[in-house]
Amino acid sequence: MNSTTPGASVTVVGIGADGWPGLGDPGRATLRHAQVVLGGGRQLDLLPGEVTAQRVPWPTPLLPALPDLLAAHAGRRICVLASGDPMWFGIGSHLARLVGPHRVRVVSHPSSISLACARLGWPVERVTVRSAVGRDLDRIRRDLAPGRLLLVLGPDATTPATLARTLTDAGYGASELTVLAALGTDREHRVDGSAHDWKAEPGDPLHVVAVRVAATPGTRVLSTVPGLPDDAFDHDGALTKREARALALSRLAPTVDDLLWDVGAGCGSVAVEWLRTDPSTSAVAVEARAERAERISGNARALGVPHLRVVRGQAPDALADLPAPDAVFVGGGLTAPGVFDAVWTALRPGGRLVAHAVTLEGERVLVDQSVQRGGDLTRLSVERAAPLGGFTGWKPARPLVQWAVTKP
Ligand SMILES: C[S@@+](CC[C@H](N)C(=O)[O-])C[C@H]1O[C@@H](n2cnc3c(N)ncnc32)[C@H](O)[C@@H]1O
Repeated sequence: MNSTTPGASVTVVGIGADGWPGLGDPGRATLRHAQVVLGGGRQLDLLPGEVTAQRVPWPTPLLPALPDLLAAHAGRRICVLASGDPMWFGIGSHLARLVGPHRVRVVSHPSSISLACARLGWPVERVTVRSAVGRDLDRIRRDLAPGRLLLVLGPDATTPATLARTLTDAGYGASELTVLAALGTDREHRVDGSAHDWKAEPGDPLHVVAVRVAATPGTRVLSTVPGLPDDAFDHDGALTKREARALALSRLAPTVDDLLWDVGAGCGSVAVEWLRTDPSTSAVAVEARAERAERISGNARALGVPHLRVVRGQAPDALADLPAPDAVFVGGGLTAPGVFDAVWTALRPGGRLVAHAVTLEGERVLVDQSVQRGGDLTRLSVERAAPLGGFTGWKPARPLVQWAVTKP
């Protein structure tokens, strides 16, 4: 079944942990009128006997089975039960994609996020929501900044303790945690504490963790604006320095859902900063040397982007099976034959290519490439104030040539 399937239509009813008593009239009427109700076992068990429809529990895994399941009940009045707001980390958007939004009617219910904000007195629009279900909890490290209000949806009862450890490890042990469990039920309860001395036992699996983020004194706060200090990365000197990195990222211009290839990734600083700009982006770091490839993974985890894919290998061969990028940074391997042909061919139309050279040989390649493909050549010279005898003088770094071009 897909969006062209005729006749398929479905009503999704959001239901809270308080079940039938918490449902409004439209939700109840839909359920009473339904011929088949699809939903999780826990949700189906909340329905009273007056709902006489056939009850079909979701199979596992659900999403691949969804088209056949809907097809099997085509022509009947189908109701899908969803937990809380069906459009908030829920089944509603999957159904809309599958049968078309005009064939999905949604009967909304407050989400666990709205309930949590109501209990905490937090404005929903100020809150950053993250799901750690099926995702690495280390991604939370990117969001850590004093004053941030975080709500984390976790996979199980161990999430609060793992989150408390992660916060403490990142220098945010002073953060206040509140576990809000079984929201909207008569079992509802909360556990409060700070991350660095979190003692609570694993509790109710049905919960949301609220975090008022606070830094432990001495913690260096890292922005998501590119140009992190060089020592924010573990590196062996093969690093695109702060000013050059910031300029490279401005030319690479990450936007929603964009994929970057960082070719000759060194310690991964360019790819890491790319990913920190927006959680929807993705990146592949290609690095020839094994110990550096390992360092890239460490930097990615420490800086909250563990989803950075690291490929150890030599460009251009290592690029062969990668998905087409929206942007490419070439920081190493410029003089290897075929690298620019490979990245130019793979780059999507409108994609950005940025390359840095610090050697004359690399510079010659960039000049040739710019003659062939256009774009801008820029020479960057950075000087830093440093001790000179008893005084202070300018210490120049190696000049660098940057080539930046957009594929037509
Ligand atoms: C100057 S460093 C890049 C620095 C990097 N942008 C950063 O900030 O960490 C160049 C890197 O390219 C790698 N390299 C050189 N030729 C390569 C090739 N053909 N394929 C993959 N990596 C290569 C080197 O091992 C080195 O780590």
